[in-house]
Amino acid sequence: MALASIGVCYYPEHWPQEVWAEQARTMRSGGIELVRIGEFAWSRIEPSPGHFDWHWLDTAIDTLAAENLQIILCTPTACPPLWLIERYPEILPVDANDNVRRFGSRRHYRFASAVYREESLRISQAVIDRYATHPAIVGWQLDNEYGCHETTLSYAADDERAFQRWLEMHHVDIDALNKAWGTVFWSQEYRSFAEVGRPNLTVTEANPAHRLDYWRFASDQVRDFNGEQRQLLRECPGSDRWVTHNFMGNFVDFDHFTVGEDLDIATWDSYPLGFLDQGWFSDEEKLRYRRIGHPDWAAFHHDLYRAVGRGRFAVMEQQPGPVNWARSNAQPLDSAPAFWGMEAVAHGAEFVSFFRYQQLPRAQEQMHAALRLPTGDAAPAWSSVNQLAQELETLPAYGSSQAPVALLFDYPSCWASTIQPHAPGMDQLENAFQYYSAARSLGLDIDIVNTRSNLHGYKMLIIPGTVIVDDAFVSRVKAADLSCLIGARSGSRDEHCALPDALAPGPLQRLVPLRVLAVDSMRPGAVRSFSYGQETFETSRWHESVDSESEPRIRCDDGSGLWYSAGGNHYINAHVPTKFLSLVMQEILLAQTVPYAPLPEGLRIRRRGALTFALNFSPDTHRVDIDDAHCVLGSAQLAQGEYAIWQQAND
Ligand code: GAL
Repeated sequence: MALASIGVCYYPEHWPQEVWAEQARTMRSGGIELVRIGEFAWSRIEPSPGHFDWHWLDTAIDTLAAENLQIILCTPTACPPLWLIERYPEILPVDANDNVRRFGSRRHYRFASAVYREESLRISQAVIDRYATHPAIVGWQLDNEYGCHETTLSYAADDERAFQRWLEMHHVDIDALNKAWGTVFWSQEYRSFAEVGRPNLTVTEANPAHRLDYWRFASDQVRDFNGEQRQLLRECPGSDRWVTHNFMGNFVDFDHFTVGEDLDIATWDSYPLGFLDQGWFSDEEKLRYRRIGHPDWAAFHHDLYRAVGRGRFAVMEQQPGPVNWARSNAQPLDSAPAFWGMEAVAHGAEFVSFFRYQQLPRAQEQMHAALRLPTGDAAPAWSSVNQLAQELETLPAYGSSQAPVALLFDYPSCWASTIQPHAPGMDQLENAFQYYSAARSLGLDIDIVNTRSNLHGYKMLIIPGTVIVDDAFVSRVKAADLSCLIGARSGSRDEHCALPDALAPGPLQRLVPLRVLAVDSMRPGAVRSFSYGQETFETSRWHESVDSESEPRIRCDDGSGLWYSAGGNHYINAHVPTKFLSLVMQEILLAQTVPYAPLPEGLRIRRRGALTFALNFSPDTHRVDIDDAHCVLGSAQLAQGEYAIWQQAND
């Protein structure tokens, strides 16, 4: 068995049937083993209500199977056809400005629409009945990228009714809701659940607890939609194939952990250059990594989705060349497709599937690169993907082991920090990413955990400004034999987005006894300086005034505290540079006897079983410390976009 396999996203409905066999042969000749099809094909499967055309899909599946290609078949619910929308216009989502979003692109549906839920079950059931036991089908993808194009939250009148029902189930009575939300403020009090509206179009900001519950409600709709679809495959006789959904990068609009509970394996769509361009990175970083991506961006998501998939993940869509949707769409380095694929494999991916097989010269994504040109000839990415396929053949199969370090990440905290940002650049995703980057620059493997995870076996737990944590979580932290590094803003809200009774960091006071009395939200350019060892640093963005009986480990030059420690746990009460975070982590790792090795800029290390992968994202060439005898791929000298793999001595 190979360490992982290569796949491709393919749209037979975009090409004349005469070329399908040739396309399938070419895929196979390039080392491709898996082909994902069908996620947007509803209008071809059911061209008019109740009339199914299976012929083309039967032929496409048989054509791929004839080349021994394995198929991931999708349910086509991401694109309801026009006839369905005409019949039931209430399916369409409504944006925060109360505008109905129209037909003409994709994802034009509301998760809470009862009729859409029924129609989705009907079309998926038809596809499943037809193909569930087809021998070429190895797995299923449900829908496509839930929530993409801001489609998690919808504000239709019918969404409001569903929200009211949700509130009834989640609050004891309306008095309890009024109390939890603090509706006495500004005379917002409600007399019944039926009075509670949608939190959009209010004169100024809506009540944060109202918004947070609306977000939870919307997230639960995604979970329920996915769960119902999944149930079809559970109930289908003879269907034992794995089921997945392809999640996105930089995307936190619903709770992926709860959706993941209904999946066998989590997959995600990795577009490192598009997201570098769109992300919060500095202009200098965007230039430095413009053709390979940020050293930690894909890695963070690989680790996140390994957690969402409870240990099993893969990349369903891997960027092959320039995308069409960022502001600047850089051409990747020639080696990037293989590099990104191998990086995913290093983090435990079971397969890496490239998006897409052939570039379509028309419609919305005509400028999106593929493995083959619109003419059918090889595109620049083709040879790199072929090389990756050959390399994977040679590598021994290993799984990922538990990492020494865990990083906490949870979706309600993302929503809470978005609802009341309080300072720019302090949202949960960006904070988590910064702490992740600091740990990765020390050559560490990291597992991502949520507030419900088992923490046993970790040596260091990072709580990177996670806004909502509860007592039960803190009890589990205390029971595990580990050191915690807690970032500013952690534990600063309760489950209803209110300040904790005992002030921030709420239940985390049981780990480091201190109270946050005030937050200085610092405008760009405002800083406080401090020294650590021989170096000086600056806090920015966010700085808390803390009340603590113990003296801080470090004070800023203006006398304010910065780093508090108690019983092996640590609290940093400000936004600090990544380099400083990595120094704090080194102290903790030393105390916990976890081996680490600070890496040069842009070099990253990751282990999978007995294999160690080194990947260089930096424009500077780096040397890694590999013993030639154990090197199984590449060499010690790595230029940008190059990687090496070595195997531990006694394996
Ligand atoms: C993904 C999506 C694909 C395609 C791709 C382009 O978000 O799932 O269908 O649009 O982006 O990069």
